[in-house]
Formats: sequence, structure tokens, C-alpha cells
Amino acid sequence: MNLNENQNRDQWGSKLGFILAAAGSAVGLGNLWKFPYTAGQNGGGAFVIVYFAMLLLVGFTLMLAELVIGRHTQLNAVGAYRKIKKNWAFVGGIGVLASYLILSVYSVIGGWVINYIVKALTGVFNTGDLNALNDVFGNFISNPTQPIIYQAIFVILTLGIVIGGISGGIEKYSKILMPGLFIMMLLIMIRSVTLPGAAEGIKYLLVPDFSKINGSVMLAALGQVFFSLSLGMGIIITYGSYLGKDTDLPQSAITIPLIDTGVALMAGLIVLPAVFAFGIDPTQGPGLIFVTLPAVFAQMPLGQLFAILFFVLVLFAALTSSISLLEASVSYVVDARNWSRKKATCILAAGVFLIGIPSSLSQGSLSHIKLFRGLNIFDTVDFFTSNVLLPLGGLLLCIFIGWVWGVDNALKEASNNGKISFKLAGFWSFVIKYIAPIAILVVFIQGLK
Ligand code: TRP
Repeated sequence: MNLNENQNRDQWGSKLGFILAAAGSAVGLGNLWKFPYTAGQNGGGAFVIVYFAMLLLVGFTLMLAELVIGRHTQLNAVGAYRKIKKNWAFVGGIGVLASYLILSVYSVIGGWVINYIVKALTGVFNTGDLNALNDVFGNFISNPTQPIIYQAIFVILTLGIVIGGISGGIEKYSKILMPGLFIMMLLIMIRSVTLPGAAEGIKYLLVPDFSKINGSVMLAALGQVFFSLSLGMGIIITYGSYLGKDTDLPQSAITIPLIDTGVALMAGLIVLPAVFAFGIDPTQGPGLIFVTLPAVFAQMPLGQLFAILFFVLVLFAALTSSISLLEASVSYVVDARNWSRKKATCILAAGVFLIGIPSSLSQGSLSHIKLFRGLNIFDTVDFFTSNVLLPLGGLLLCIFIGWVWGVDNALKEASNNGKISFKLAGFWSFVIKYIAPIAILVVFIQGLK
């Protein structure tokens, strides 16, 4: 398949190719970096259980909704909304804006990952001393130039792939590297859960303390569902637009979230047991994996090799997601402004790099600037995109399907015109019309209070 050519509609080579590419967009820093630390900050098991509830109600439903719109219209997000109802194109526009802002912070973390590959190669983690590892991380992210250089490298890698097209490279490699990531994670997880003192961490992640559930935990979980599944900004619409009419969409809408959630839980089971085993504060935030994982590697046979391989695979997972984030705005500008793909990619990538710089600096020299609720620049952009723009896009998507386009039209597409049986059709229609929009709205308002 080729995301480049909206005029010459390509299709996915195989069903597996599509599932892996969609899972490639979904599985990324959201699972490996964000899930463990967000769970850590929001009460562990309490967060996980709310996450599952949101996943069941909102995640699966919207995944199917986006796939259905995409395959029906065979267009990108903005075009797809416009084709069905002209004045709804702005919802696609919200998605483009969200993707662009998300990519600006995504690239900062992507840069950290690249730097950690270098650190692993040069044996920086071999000490295994927690205080030293904490300092290594703190010194790096607060440095005024180093993280920005690595952020630039991450943006350039993303740009290179998006300019060159996706079919030959990323899709082919996904098939090898994604299973590779899975196996690596399994091995590291075994080490982590068998560390002395790990049981506390497993308990923290899996046993919910219901008293910790409140509005902001719920909003964090909802935002995480959107972010992790790449929902709410039309990326899945675009991926669905390359699907043939014979694909079983309801089944895909179950498989992709299952893969994504499996990886997130594994990441949680790697990070949190280690956090407790080493006596780290689980609420410490974005740095969690960068401090705990090197400590785990130091306690493993062949630890350095594992460290190198693991961060390389994390980088790859991040790239299969970041290209989808950049592609959203590139394809929009190419279509709407008639720019060449090369010009669009270069200019947009340069812009995303510049917008990301304050987020990077907010870990050091700009850390005193608090934009919103005491959050620094980085956390504000992250909150505004994941917890505001994506749920808003999702809410509008529910209203669009349930009340504008109509569930009957959607169901016709979802069931391939009645050729496959979609057993949950009635349930899905009810959820997308009533439950999901109300849930999103309530959580949104509660969480913002
Ligand atoms: N889902 C990806 C992750 O977990 C990030 C991502 C890619 C994304 N495309 C997106 C998030 C679209 C929101 C919307 O890392």
C-alpha cells in the first residue's frame, strides 16, 4: 500500500499487512513510554480498570467507526467527512491539528530514545546504580542543546520515510520488527517480574484501589485510549480507506485494540515491578522508563545487548507511529494546497521540529514556565492534545455516525452489505449513538473541572 497517492488508490497487500500497519501506528511511545508512567501517576490498578472500561465502550466502537468511514469513502480524513457531509470537514481539520501538535512532543521523546540507543552502545547503563541513572537522565533532558539535536534526528528519520513512501520500507520491516519487539518485551518482562520486590509493582498495576478513581483519572484513561489506539484524528479513517470491500471490519476493530493493549500491559509489567523493586517513585512521570529500564538491563545477563536491542525496537515502534502522525498533515496540505509531497513534508517537518523545541526546553531551562494547571509546556501540549482535542474529535465522530450519516448506512458498510454477520450490530449502534458520546462528554467535563 502507499499512503502517498490519494488519486491512485492503492490497497493493502494482505489482511495481515493491514493489521500490522494499523497496529504499527497504534503501538508506539503511547504503549511503551506513556502507559506505564500514566498508570503510575493515576493510581496504578485504578487507572488500568478505567482504561479497560473506556477501551470497551469507546475504543472498539470508535475504531470500527473510523474504519467504516474510511473504507466507505476511500478518502483521507478531511475528504471523507466532506464527502459524506460537506460542512463536517472541520472535524478532519481538528485531527490534522492534533496530529501536528502530538508529533511535536512525540519527536522530543523519540529523540530521547535515540540518545538512549547511543548510551546503551557506549555502556553508560552498566553501573546499574539508580542514583547515577537518575542523574544521567536528568542531566540529559535538561541540557539545552543535546535533546534538541536528537529531536532533530528523529524528525529527519520520520521525514525521510514519509517522503520516500511507505510501501517498500516500513510495511516490510514492520512484519519482522514488530514480532521482534514482542519477543524482546516478553524476555524483559520475565526479568522484571522476577526481581526481588517486584510483587508490589504487579499488585500496584493490576489490583485496583477503587477509591483512587476520580474525574482526572477517568480523563487520563480516556485520553490514553485515544492516544494509544491512534483514534480521534482520522488516521484510522485513512488506513481504512486502503481496504478492500471484503475485509471483516468488525473483526479488525477487535484485533487491533487487543494487540495494542497487550503491548501496553506488557510495558506496564516491565516498568512497574522494576519501579517497586528499585524503590522508585511511580508517580514521577515521563522519565519512568528511561530510569527504570536501564536499571533492569543492568541486572540481566547480556544486559547491554538487551538494552541496545530494546531501545532500537522502541525507536522503530515510535517511527511507525510518527510517520502516521506526519502523514496526516502532509496529505492534507498536498490535497488542499497542491504542494508537492516533497515540499509539504520538508516544510511541515521543519515546523514540527521548531514547535517541539519549547517542549524540549521545558525539561530544563524553561521548566519554570507553567502554562496550565501548573503543567510545564511539554505537559500542557500533551494534555491539550490527548485529553482535549482527541476526545473532542471522538465525540464529533460519534455524533457524525449516530446522528448525521446514520447508523444504518454505517452498518451496511460494516457488514459488507450484509455479506458478513456482525453480531454486535445492535450493541454497537446503541453505544455509538448514546453511550460513547455521553461517556466522552461526562468524562471530559468531570476531568476538566
Ligand atoms: N498511537 C501511537 C502511540 O501509541 C501514537 C499515534 C500515532 C497517535 N498516530 C496517532 C495518537 C494518532 C493519536 C492519534 O504511540
